[in-house]
Amino acid sequence: MDERVKRLFPITTTWQPTVQFAGHDVAALARRYGTPLYLYDQATMDDAVATYRHAFHLFYPGQSHLAYAAKAYLSTAIVQWANAKGLELDVVSLWELQIALHAGFPAPRIHFHGNNKTDEELQAALAASVGQIVCDNENELRRLAHFAAGQGRCQPIWLRLTPDVDVHTHEYRRTGRRDSKFGFGWPEAERALAFLSKTEQLRLVGLHMHLGSQIFTAEPYAVASQRILRWAGEHDIWPETFSPGGGWGVPYTPSDPGGDIGEMVQAIAAAVTAESERWQRQVPALLLEPGRSLVGRAGVAVYRVGQRKAVPGVRTWLTVDGGMGDNLRPALYGSRYYALLLDQGGHIADKRPAETVQVVGPYCESGDFLIKRIKLPQARRDDLLLMPVSGAYHLSMSSNYNMHPRPAVLWLQRGRVTLVQRRETLADLKRRDAPWPEEG
Ligand code: LLP
Repeated sequence: MDERVKRLFPITTTWQPTVQFAGHDVAALARRYGTPLYLYDQATMDDAVATYRHAFHLFYPGQSHLAYAAKAYLSTAIVQWANAKGLELDVVSLWELQIALHAGFPAPRIHFHGNNKTDEELQAALAASVGQIVCDNENELRRLAHFAAGQGRCQPIWLRLTPDVDVHTHEYRRTGRRDSKFGFGWPEAERALAFLSKTEQLRLVGLHMHLGSQIFTAEPYAVASQRILRWAGEHDIWPETFSPGGGWGVPYTPSDPGGDIGEMVQAIAAAVTAESERWQRQVPALLLEPGRSLVGRAGVAVYRVGQRKAVPGVRTWLTVDGGMGDNLRPALYGSRYYALLLDQGGHIADKRPAETVQVVGPYCESGDFLIKRIKLPQARRDDLLLMPVSGAYHLSMSSNYNMHPRPAVLWLQRGRVTLVQRRETLADLKRRDAPWPEEG
Protein backbone atom coordinates (compact mmCIF):
# COMPACT_ATOMS: atom_id res chain seq x y z
CA MET A 1 0.00 0.00 0.00
CA ASP A 2 1.18 3.51 -0.87
CA GLU A 3 2.85 5.28 2.08
CA ARG A 4 0.65 8.35 1.62
CA VAL A 5 -2.43 6.18 2.07
CA LYS A 6 -0.94 4.09 4.88
CA ARG A 7 -0.43 7.16 7.07
CA LEU A 8 -4.20 7.83 6.97
CA PHE A 9 -5.11 4.46 8.50
CA PRO A 10 -4.43 3.08 11.99
CA ILE A 11 -0.86 1.95 12.54
CA THR A 12 -2.01 -1.65 13.08
CA THR A 13 -3.64 -1.94 9.63
CA THR A 14 -2.86 -4.98 7.52
CA TRP A 15 -4.15 -5.05 3.95
CA GLN A 16 -3.89 -8.62 2.67
CA PRO A 17 -5.75 -10.87 2.13
CA THR A 18 -8.46 -8.82 3.86
CA VAL A 19 -8.22 -5.44 5.58
CA GLN A 20 -7.70 -5.80 9.32
CA PHE A 21 -7.08 -3.41 12.21
CA ALA A 22 -5.18 -4.77 15.21
CA GLY A 23 -5.77 -8.22 13.74
CA HIS A 24 -9.55 -7.78 13.44
CA ASP A 25 -11.21 -8.38 10.10
CA VAL A 26 -13.26 -5.31 9.12
CA ALA A 27 -15.80 -7.22 7.07
CA ALA A 28 -16.47 -9.60 9.98
CA LEU A 29 -16.91 -6.66 12.38
CA ALA A 30 -19.31 -4.96 9.94
CA ARG A 31 -21.37 -8.16 9.65
CA ARG A 32 -21.52 -8.63 13.38
CA TYR A 33 -22.10 -5.05 14.55
CA GLY A 34 -23.80 -3.50 11.51
CA THR A 35 -22.97 -0.28 9.70
CA PRO A 36 -22.30 2.63 9.85
CA LEU A 37 -19.69 1.51 12.33
CA TYR A 38 -16.88 3.45 13.97
CA LEU A 39 -13.66 1.69 14.93
CA TYR A 40 -11.01 3.10 17.28
CA ASP A 41 -7.59 1.50 17.25
CA GLN A 42 -5.99 2.06 20.63
CA ALA A 43 -2.44 1.40 19.46
CA THR A 44 -2.68 4.39 17.12
CA MET A 45 -3.77 6.65 19.96
CA ASP A 46 -1.03 5.31 22.24
CA ASP A 47 1.45 6.01 19.49
CA ALA A 48 0.29 9.62 19.13
CA VAL A 49 0.67 10.13 22.88
CA ALA A 50 4.17 8.68 22.73
CA THR A 51 5.05 10.99 19.82
CA TYR A 52 4.04 14.08 21.80
CA ARG A 53 5.91 12.89 24.88
CA HIS A 54 9.00 12.07 22.88
CA ALA A 55 8.96 15.57 21.36
CA PHE A 56 8.62 17.13 24.83
CA HIS A 57 11.56 15.06 25.96
CA LEU A 58 13.67 16.11 22.98
CA PHE A 59 12.87 19.79 22.89
CA TYR A 60 11.53 21.13 26.18
CA PRO A 61 13.77 21.69 29.19
CA GLY A 62 10.92 22.19 31.69
CA GLN A 63 7.99 20.12 32.87
CA SER A 64 5.46 19.12 30.25
CA HIS A 65 1.92 17.80 30.24
CA LEU A 66 -0.39 16.44 27.61
CA ALA A 67 -4.15 16.94 27.81
CA TYR A 68 -6.77 15.39 25.58
CA ALA A 69 -9.33 17.85 24.21
CA ALA A 70 -12.45 15.82 24.87
CA LYS A 71 -14.53 17.69 22.30
CA ALA A 72 -12.80 15.70 19.55
CA TYR A 73 -14.60 12.56 20.75
CA LEU A 74 -15.93 11.89 24.21
CA SER A 75 -17.19 8.65 25.68
CA THR A 76 -16.69 6.82 28.93
CA ALA A 77 -14.09 4.52 27.37
CA ILE A 78 -11.94 7.25 25.90
CA VAL A 79 -11.96 9.17 29.17
CA GLN A 80 -10.80 6.03 30.96
CA TRP A 81 -8.11 5.50 28.34
CA ALA A 82 -6.92 9.11 28.82
CA ASN A 83 -6.82 8.59 32.56
CA ALA A 84 -4.88 5.34 32.29
CA LYS A 85 -2.34 7.05 30.01
CA GLY A 86 -1.79 9.83 32.55
CA LEU A 87 -3.25 12.52 30.30
CA GLU A 88 -5.05 15.61 31.52
CA LEU A 89 -8.51 16.37 30.14
CA ASP A 90 -9.91 19.52 28.57
CA VAL A 91 -13.69 19.82 28.89
CA VAL A 92 -15.85 22.63 27.60
CA SER A 93 -19.33 22.13 29.02
CA LEU A 94 -21.14 20.93 32.11
CA TRP A 95 -22.00 17.73 30.29
CA GLU A 96 -18.48 16.96 29.15
CA LEU A 97 -17.42 17.55 32.75
CA GLN A 98 -20.08 15.23 34.08
CA ILE A 99 -19.25 12.44 31.63
CA ALA A 100 -15.58 12.76 32.58
CA LEU A 101 -16.35 12.58 36.30
CA HIS A 102 -18.77 9.71 35.75
CA ALA A 103 -16.00 7.82 33.94
CA GLY A 104 -13.80 8.29 37.01
CA PHE A 105 -11.43 10.93 35.64
CA PRO A 106 -9.67 12.69 38.53
CA ALA A 107 -10.95 16.27 38.82
CA PRO A 108 -7.52 17.77 39.59
CA ARG A 109 -6.41 16.81 36.05
CA ILE A 110 -9.44 18.42 34.39
CA HIS A 111 -9.34 21.88 32.77
CA PHE A 112 -12.66 23.58 32.32
CA HIS A 113 -12.93 25.76 29.20
CA GLY A 114 -15.76 27.72 27.61
CA ASN A 115 -16.58 31.20 26.37
CA ASN A 116 -20.02 31.38 27.99
CA LYS A 117 -19.81 29.40 31.19
CA THR A 118 -23.09 29.46 33.05
CA ASP A 119 -23.40 29.95 36.79
CA GLU A 120 -24.29 26.29 37.04
CA GLU A 121 -21.14 25.29 35.16
CA LEU A 122 -18.88 27.47 37.29
CA GLN A 123 -20.42 26.15 40.48
CA ALA A 124 -20.17 22.56 39.30
CA ALA A 125 -16.53 23.00 38.30
CA LEU A 126 -15.76 24.51 41.71
CA ALA A 127 -17.69 21.86 43.60
CA ALA A 128 -15.87 19.10 41.71
CA SER A 129 -12.52 20.81 42.47
CA VAL A 130 -11.37 20.75 38.86
CA GLY A 131 -7.69 21.48 38.48
CA GLN A 132 -8.03 24.67 36.47
CA ILE A 133 -10.81 26.84 35.21
CA VAL A 134 -9.68 28.50 32.01
CA CYS A 135 -11.28 31.94 32.29
CA ASP A 136 -12.43 33.53 29.09
CA ASN A 137 -13.80 36.97 29.97
CA GLU A 138 -14.18 39.55 32.73
CA ASN A 139 -17.76 38.79 33.56
CA GLU A 140 -16.85 35.17 34.13
CA LEU A 141 -13.99 36.17 36.43
CA ARG A 142 -16.31 38.22 38.60
CA ARG A 143 -18.93 35.49 38.82
CA LEU A 144 -16.31 32.84 39.51
CA ALA A 145 -14.77 34.91 42.31
CA HIS A 146 -18.21 35.33 43.83
CA PHE A 147 -18.99 31.60 43.74
CA ALA A 148 -15.52 30.65 44.98
CA ALA A 149 -16.03 32.99 47.95
CA GLY A 150 -19.41 31.32 48.58
CA GLN A 151 -17.74 27.90 48.65
CA GLY A 152 -14.82 29.22 50.73
CA ARG A 153 -12.32 28.21 48.06
CA CYS A 154 -9.31 29.62 46.31
CA GLN A 155 -9.59 28.38 42.75
CA PRO A 156 -6.54 28.08 40.47
CA ILE A 157 -7.29 29.66 37.13
CA TRP A 158 -5.74 30.29 33.76
CA LEU A 159 -6.52 33.22 31.53
CA ARG A 160 -7.27 32.46 27.91
CA LEU A 161 -5.64 35.22 25.91
CA THR A 162 -6.29 36.08 22.30
CA PRO A 163 -2.87 36.84 20.89
CA ASP A 164 -4.13 38.30 17.61
CA VAL A 165 -2.27 35.78 15.49
CA ASP A 166 -3.93 34.37 12.41
CA VAL A 167 -3.55 30.83 11.08
CA HIS A 168 -4.16 29.20 7.78
CA THR A 169 -7.23 27.00 8.22
CA HIS A 170 -10.96 27.12 7.55
CA GLU A 171 -12.61 30.37 8.69
CA TYR A 172 -14.77 28.44 11.21
CA ARG A 173 -11.68 27.02 12.89
CA ARG A 174 -9.74 30.24 13.51
CA THR A 175 -9.78 31.41 17.09
CA GLY A 176 -6.61 33.43 17.68
CA ARG A 177 -7.49 36.72 15.99
CA ARG A 178 -8.48 39.83 17.87
CA ASP A 179 -12.06 39.59 16.60
CA SER A 180 -12.48 36.05 17.98
CA LYS A 181 -15.37 35.37 20.31
CA PHE A 182 -12.93 33.54 22.59
CA GLY A 183 -10.61 34.89 25.23
CA PHE A 184 -9.23 38.15 26.56
CA GLY A 185 -7.82 40.71 24.16
CA TRP A 186 -4.91 42.76 25.53
CA PRO A 187 -6.94 45.63 27.08
CA GLU A 188 -9.36 43.22 28.74
CA ALA A 189 -6.45 41.14 29.99
CA GLU A 190 -4.98 44.22 31.69
CA ARG A 191 -8.26 44.80 33.49
CA ALA A 192 -8.39 41.12 34.46
CA LEU A 193 -4.99 41.47 36.12
CA ALA A 194 -6.17 44.51 38.05
CA PHE A 195 -9.21 42.57 39.20
CA LEU A 196 -7.18 39.49 40.16
CA SER A 197 -4.73 41.56 42.19
CA LYS A 198 -7.64 42.42 44.51
CA THR A 199 -9.27 38.98 44.56
CA GLU A 200 -8.19 36.31 47.02
CA GLN A 201 -10.55 33.64 45.74
CA LEU A 202 -8.79 33.22 42.40
CA ARG A 203 -5.14 32.35 41.91
CA LEU A 204 -3.70 32.96 38.47
CA VAL A 205 -1.46 29.99 37.69
CA GLY A 206 -1.54 29.73 33.93
CA LEU A 207 -1.84 31.49 30.61
CA HIS A 208 -3.54 29.86 27.69
CA MET A 209 -4.23 30.41 24.02
CA HIS A 210 -5.75 28.39 21.23
CA LEU A 211 -5.15 29.58 17.70
CA GLY A 212 -7.49 27.30 15.81
CA SER A 213 -7.63 23.80 14.50
CA GLN A 214 -6.17 21.75 11.63
CA ILE A 215 -3.04 23.93 11.49
CA PHE A 216 0.10 22.74 9.69
CA THR A 217 2.58 25.55 10.23
CA ALA A 218 4.45 25.89 13.50
CA GLU A 219 5.38 29.53 13.12
CA PRO A 220 2.09 31.05 14.38
CA TYR A 221 2.44 28.97 17.56
CA ALA A 222 5.91 30.36 18.13
CA VAL A 223 4.89 33.97 17.43
CA ALA A 224 1.81 33.78 19.63
CA SER A 225 3.62 32.01 22.49
CA GLN A 226 6.28 34.67 22.44
CA ARG A 227 3.69 37.46 22.43
CA ILE A 228 1.87 36.05 25.43
CA LEU A 229 5.00 35.48 27.46
CA ARG A 230 6.34 38.92 26.58
CA TRP A 231 3.09 40.34 27.91
CA ALA A 232 3.50 38.23 31.08
CA GLY A 233 7.07 39.48 31.49
CA GLU A 234 6.02 43.09 31.05
CA HIS A 235 3.27 42.67 33.64
CA ASP A 236 5.37 40.69 36.09
CA ILE A 237 2.97 37.74 36.25
CA TRP A 238 5.08 34.84 35.01
CA PRO A 239 2.83 31.73 34.71
CA GLU A 240 3.51 28.39 36.41
CA THR A 241 1.97 26.78 33.32
CA PHE A 242 1.74 27.97 29.75
CA SER A 243 -0.64 26.28 27.33
CA PRO A 244 -0.57 27.04 23.61
CA GLY A 245 -3.76 24.97 23.24
CA GLY A 246 -4.16 22.32 20.60
CA GLY A 247 -4.96 22.51 16.92
CA TRP A 248 -2.15 20.66 15.18
CA GLY A 249 -3.30 19.23 11.84
CA VAL A 250 -3.50 15.70 10.51
CA PRO A 251 -3.62 14.54 6.88
CA TYR A 252 -7.03 13.40 5.65
CA THR A 253 -6.10 12.66 2.03
CA PRO A 254 -2.95 11.33 0.38
CA SER A 255 -2.04 14.81 -0.87
CA ASP A 256 -2.36 16.59 2.52
CA PRO A 257 0.79 17.68 4.37
CA GLY A 258 2.03 15.28 7.03
CA GLY A 259 1.58 17.22 10.27
CA ASP A 260 4.86 16.54 12.06
CA ILE A 261 4.11 16.90 15.77
CA GLY A 262 7.78 17.30 16.61
CA GLU A 263 8.05 20.37 14.40
CA MET A 264 5.30 22.17 16.30
CA VAL A 265 6.58 21.18 19.74
CA GLN A 266 10.09 22.25 18.81
CA ALA A 267 8.92 25.68 17.63
CA ILE A 268 6.87 26.29 20.76
CA ALA A 269 9.63 25.01 23.02
CA ALA A 270 12.17 27.34 21.40
CA ALA A 271 9.89 30.37 21.72
CA VAL A 272 9.00 29.66 25.34
CA THR A 273 12.59 28.97 26.32
CA ALA A 274 13.85 32.13 24.61
CA GLU A 275 11.22 34.33 26.22
CA SER A 276 11.85 32.78 29.65
CA GLU A 277 15.54 33.60 29.30
CA ARG A 278 14.79 37.13 28.19
CA TRP A 279 12.76 37.75 31.36
CA GLN A 280 15.17 35.73 33.47
CA ARG A 281 12.41 33.41 34.60
CA GLN A 282 12.14 29.69 34.98
CA VAL A 283 10.54 28.02 31.97
CA PRO A 284 6.87 27.42 32.78
CA ALA A 285 5.37 23.94 32.63
CA LEU A 286 4.21 23.44 29.06
CA LEU A 287 0.78 21.94 28.49
CA LEU A 288 -0.53 21.02 25.05
CA GLU A 289 -4.17 20.03 24.62
CA PRO A 290 -4.58 18.33 21.25
CA GLY A 291 -7.73 16.52 20.20
CA ARG A 292 -7.55 15.63 16.52
CA SER A 293 -3.87 14.68 16.42
CA LEU A 294 -4.40 12.19 19.28
CA VAL A 295 -7.49 10.41 17.99
CA GLY A 296 -8.15 11.36 14.35
CA ARG A 297 -6.10 8.66 12.68
CA ALA A 298 -7.18 5.99 15.18
CA GLY A 299 -10.78 6.20 13.96
CA VAL A 300 -12.17 4.54 10.84
CA ALA A 301 -15.77 4.84 9.67
CA VAL A 302 -17.18 1.74 7.98
CA TYR A 303 -20.12 2.21 5.64
CA ARG A 304 -22.14 -0.22 3.53
CA VAL A 305 -22.65 0.64 -0.13
CA GLY A 306 -26.25 1.01 -1.29
CA GLN A 307 -27.60 2.81 -4.34
CA ARG A 308 -25.37 3.72 -7.29
CA LYS A 309 -26.81 6.23 -9.74
CA ALA A 310 -25.05 7.26 -12.92
CA VAL A 311 -26.19 10.48 -14.56
CA PRO A 312 -24.54 10.17 -17.99
CA GLY A 313 -22.15 13.00 -18.75
CA VAL A 314 -22.64 14.56 -15.29
CA ARG A 315 -21.63 12.33 -12.43
CA THR A 316 -22.08 9.04 -10.67
CA TRP A 317 -23.56 9.06 -7.19
CA LEU A 318 -22.50 6.37 -4.80
CA THR A 319 -24.72 6.21 -1.74
CA VAL A 320 -23.60 4.66 1.52
CA ASP A 321 -25.56 4.21 4.74
CA GLY A 322 -24.00 7.14 6.64
CA GLY A 323 -23.31 10.76 5.87
CA MET A 324 -23.89 14.16 7.42
CA GLY A 325 -25.55 12.59 10.47
CA ASP A 326 -22.33 10.94 11.62
CA ASN A 327 -19.84 13.15 9.74
CA LEU A 328 -20.86 16.76 9.28
CA ARG A 329 -17.36 17.94 8.37
CA PRO A 330 -17.65 17.79 4.56
CA ALA A 331 -20.97 19.68 4.62
CA LEU A 332 -19.84 22.21 7.23
CA TYR A 333 -16.26 22.95 6.21
CA GLY A 334 -15.95 21.36 2.78
CA SER A 335 -13.50 18.92 4.40
CA ARG A 336 -11.94 16.40 2.06
CA TYR A 337 -11.57 12.70 2.71
CA TYR A 338 -10.13 9.56 1.24
CA ALA A 339 -11.94 6.20 1.01
CA LEU A 340 -11.09 2.59 0.36
CA LEU A 341 -13.58 0.21 -1.24
CA LEU A 342 -13.74 -3.40 -0.02
CA ASP A 343 -15.85 -6.23 -1.33
CA GLN A 344 -18.23 -7.99 1.03
CA GLY A 345 -15.49 -10.37 2.08
CA GLY A 346 -13.23 -7.48 3.15
CA HIS A 347 -10.73 -7.63 0.24
CA ILE A 348 -9.61 -4.38 -1.37
CA ALA A 349 -11.64 -4.22 -4.57
CA ASP A 350 -8.84 -2.87 -6.75
CA LYS A 351 -9.17 -5.43 -9.54
CA ARG A 352 -12.33 -3.78 -10.85
CA PRO A 353 -12.34 -0.91 -13.36
CA ALA A 354 -12.18 2.49 -11.71
CA GLU A 355 -14.72 5.30 -11.98
CA THR A 356 -15.05 8.78 -10.50
CA VAL A 357 -17.93 9.08 -8.06
CA GLN A 358 -19.44 11.43 -5.50
CA VAL A 359 -19.96 9.59 -2.23
CA VAL A 360 -23.18 10.66 -0.52
CA GLY A 361 -25.39 9.55 2.34
CA PRO A 362 -29.08 8.78 2.82
CA TYR A 363 -30.02 12.14 4.39
CA CYS A 364 -32.63 14.38 2.75
CA GLU A 365 -30.24 17.13 1.82
CA SER A 366 -28.15 17.80 -1.26
CA GLY A 367 -25.35 18.94 1.04
CA ASP A 368 -25.19 15.44 2.45
CA PHE A 369 -21.95 14.32 0.89
CA LEU A 370 -18.90 12.59 2.29
CA ILE A 371 -16.57 12.93 -0.69
CA LYS A 372 -17.25 15.25 -3.64
CA ARG A 373 -14.95 13.51 -6.07
CA ILE A 374 -12.96 10.33 -5.77
CA LYS A 375 -11.79 7.61 -8.09
CA LEU A 376 -12.89 4.23 -6.77
CA PRO A 377 -13.21 0.74 -8.19
CA GLN A 378 -16.76 0.23 -9.48
CA ALA A 379 -18.81 -0.36 -6.38
CA ARG A 380 -21.51 -2.96 -5.90
CA ARG A 381 -24.35 -3.00 -3.41
CA ASP A 382 -23.19 -4.35 -0.03
CA ASP A 383 -19.53 -3.55 -0.61
CA LEU A 384 -17.86 -1.75 2.29
CA LEU A 385 -16.48 1.76 2.15
CA LEU A 386 -13.82 2.62 4.72
CA MET A 387 -13.24 6.27 5.55
CA PRO A 388 -10.01 6.79 7.47
CA VAL A 389 -9.20 9.68 9.84
CA SER A 390 -12.70 9.53 11.30
CA GLY A 391 -11.68 9.63 14.96
CA ALA A 392 -12.06 13.36 15.63
CA TYR A 393 -15.12 15.62 15.35
CA HIS A 394 -17.36 13.05 13.69
CA LEU A 395 -19.27 11.39 16.49
CA SER A 396 -18.92 14.40 18.77
CA MET A 397 -20.71 16.51 16.14
CA SER A 398 -23.15 13.80 15.07
CA SER A 399 -26.93 14.18 15.06
CA ASN A 400 -30.14 12.22 14.69
CA TYR A 401 -31.09 14.03 11.49
CA ASN A 402 -33.88 12.15 9.70
CA MET A 403 -34.07 10.16 12.96
CA HIS A 404 -31.09 8.03 12.11
CA PRO A 405 -29.66 6.35 15.18
CA ARG A 406 -26.04 7.18 15.91
CA PRO A 407 -23.51 4.46 15.01
CA ALA A 408 -21.96 1.83 17.23
CA VAL A 409 -18.33 2.32 18.31
CA LEU A 410 -15.85 -0.50 18.75
CA TRP A 411 -12.58 -0.20 20.65
CA LEU A 412 -9.90 -2.36 19.11
CA GLN A 413 -6.96 -3.87 20.94
CA ARG A 414 -4.97 -6.83 19.75
CA GLY A 415 -7.00 -9.94 20.57
CA ARG A 416 -9.94 -7.93 21.92
CA VAL A 417 -12.92 -6.03 20.51
CA THR A 418 -15.07 -4.02 22.92
CA LEU A 419 -18.37 -2.38 22.07
CA VAL A 420 -17.84 0.94 23.87
CA GLN A 421 -20.93 2.65 22.46
CA ARG A 422 -23.83 0.58 21.24
CA ARG A 423 -25.81 1.71 18.23
CA GLU A 424 -28.75 3.91 19.22
CA THR A 425 -32.10 2.18 19.12
CA LEU A 426 -35.64 3.27 18.42
CA ALA A 427 -36.17 3.33 22.19
CA ASP A 428 -33.33 5.91 22.50
CA LEU A 429 -34.94 8.03 19.81
CA LYS A 430 -38.34 8.00 21.54
CA ARG A 431 -37.06 8.45 25.07
CA ARG A 432 -37.47 12.24 25.37
CA ASP A 433 -40.86 12.47 23.71
CA ALA A 434 -44.22 13.06 25.39
CA PRO A 435 -47.57 12.75 23.61
CA TRP A 436 -49.38 15.74 22.09
CA PRO A 437 -51.75 17.25 24.67
CA GLU A 438 -54.61 17.46 22.10
CA GLU A 439 -56.57 20.69 21.41
CA GLY A 440 -57.73 23.14 24.08
N1 LLP B 1 -8.16 23.49 23.00
C1 LLP B 1 -9.19 24.33 22.77
C2 LLP B 1 -9.40 25.46 23.65
C3 LLP B 1 -10.04 24.10 21.67
O1 LLP B 1 -11.04 24.93 21.45
C4 LLP B 1 -9.81 22.98 20.83
C5 LLP B 1 -10.67 22.73 19.67
C6 LLP B 1 -8.72 22.13 21.12
C7 LLP B 1 -7.92 22.42 22.22
C8 LLP B 1 -8.40 20.92 20.29
O2 LLP B 1 -8.11 21.24 18.97
P1 LLP B 1 -7.56 20.09 17.99
O3 LLP B 1 -6.22 19.66 18.50
O4 LLP B 1 -8.53 18.97 18.02
O5 LLP B 1 -7.51 20.74 16.66
N2 LLP B 1 -14.99 20.81 14.56
C9 LLP B 1 -13.77 21.26 13.94
C10 LLP B 1 -12.69 21.49 14.96
C11 LLP B 1 -13.11 22.42 16.05
C12 LLP B 1 -12.06 22.58 17.12
C13 LLP B 1 -12.61 23.22 18.32
N3 LLP B 1 -11.67 23.45 19.36
C14 LLP B 1 -13.35 20.25 12.87
O6 LLP B 1 -14.02 19.24 12.73
O7 LLP B 1 -12.37 20.48 12.15
